[in-house]
Amino acid sequence: MIPLQEQNTCVIGLQWGDEGKGKIVDFLAERADAVVRYCGGANAGHTVRIGSEKYSTHLLPVGVLRAGKMNVIGNGVVLDPAALFREIDELAARGIAVTPGNLRISYKAHLVMPYHVLEDGAREQSSEGTAIGTTRRGIGPAYADKMMRATALRVADLLHEEKLRQRIARVVTERNKVLRALYDLAPLDWKQVFEQYRDFGRRMGPFVEDTTFLLLQYAREGKRVVFEGAHAALLDVDHGTYPYVTSSNCSGLGVYTGAGVPPQMVQNFQGVVKAYSTRVGGGPFPTEQDNNTGNYIRERGNEYGTTTRRPRRCGWFDAVAARYSADLCGVSAVAVTLLDVLSGLDHVQVCTAYKYRGSHLPYFRADMDILAEVEPVYETLPGWRGNISGCRKFGELPPEAQQYIKRIEQLIGAPINMVSVGPERSAMLIR
Ligand code: GDP
Ligand code: IMO
Ligand code: MG
Repeated sequence: MIPLQEQNTCVIGLQWGDEGKGKIVDFLAERADAVVRYCGGANAGHTVRIGSEKYSTHLLPVGVLRAGKMNVIGNGVVLDPAALFREIDELAARGIAVTPGNLRISYKAHLVMPYHVLEDGAREQSSEGTAIGTTRRGIGPAYADKMMRATALRVADLLHEEKLRQRIARVVTERNKVLRALYDLAPLDWKQVFEQYRDFGRRMGPFVEDTTFLLLQYAREGKRVVFEGAHAALLDVDHGTYPYVTSSNCSGLGVYTGAGVPPQMVQNFQGVVKAYSTRVGGGPFPTEQDNNTGNYIRERGNEYGTTTRRPRRCGWFDAVAARYSADLCGVSAVAVTLLDVLSGLDHVQVCTAYKYRGSHLPYFRADMDILAEVEPVYETLPGWRGNISGCRKFGELPPEAQQYIKRIEQLIGAPINMVSVGPERSAMLIR
């Protein structure tokens, strides 16, 4: 039996992504033995700033940036081998080695194939008025195939070359017909796809493992594991703002299936919110500020997508949404990031409730039609000035910034245990 692993933590974004999860995971990884990614794929973009060096990971857990940490890509991830090896090669060029000694990949993870990427892009481009605003990394089509089963490929399939050849020949031939009929796309050459994936398989082989077995072993040894949530609770395919979500259970609820571990292994959920809100892609965003305030936040926060460079939509902190996510994920504490970005504003606003058709909506509804109509009810708090990136104690923050943190803590209903005041690894204060 696996005893309770109270030392393990799962880090979850409580908004629409890009909350600074990468930075928080990197912080927690210092005292951990392993970091596990369990959902999504190369649509994620997690940034860690170490001194003047900036690292962005997409598929790799950010634990690769620290020596001596094991990193695991769990079964719940959809893995694009081209993206994975690109990332590994880019890090190698910067002196960071990712080898089978510090990265293990679940044989059960599904593969993102070239036709998934083509389909994602073509569907987005051709869907008049119904585009999701995806990252076009093939995520939706790859997860759809996973559920479809008959046309899906997993990491394990890369290791059996003759079967891989037969499967790719069948699937690519079938998919070409669909891509042609729906999007008028030129056919893919299945032999080329096979050769490319066969070569990926040869390179990936030494990384492949039964990662559930490995993580259970870690549990028995009392090793400390950080589970790196990607995306965020409001992008969860079941609990987010559907259909403007990603295709995995990227709230905290997906960690068990995605990492392939029992509940005893993940008891502690660390939420992450930024001090305001952002969203990339389509979908309702009640507190959006498509105005000078939004522009101020975007420029100061460098709010441009880590993966696609798209400008992020910016707005005030939405406590209704954050409370929903915090409750859903059962967080025991919340980190607030990017507080420094709000410096210099006369006032800051926080959404404390929604009005819907004249009545008060006290809770979040993950229903597109309702969210598109709600009016945020704001509370106005005093702003603060000056550069706060050097603060390392809560008491060093301007009183108005302290008041802001205390108020959003009250509204979220969970203690705020960390405040990040700059992109750099050390720009953080612990409460
Ligand atoms: P993630 O996807 O949740 O890991 O977040 P991203 O890396 O996509 O986006 C967060 C951005 O904010 C990155 O550029 C980080 O370097 C940066 N960042 C993180 N924390 C802070 C902070 O406290 N202040 C500032 N100014 N930037 C931060
Ligand atoms: P991290 O881990 C922000 C958004 C996309 C789009 C929707 C669906 O860096 O926080 P997809 O390509 O997943 O099918 O796109 O989800 N999205 C993210 N937005 N941060 C992310 O990841 C995201 N991952 C997906 O912009 O609206
Ligand atoms: Mg990101």
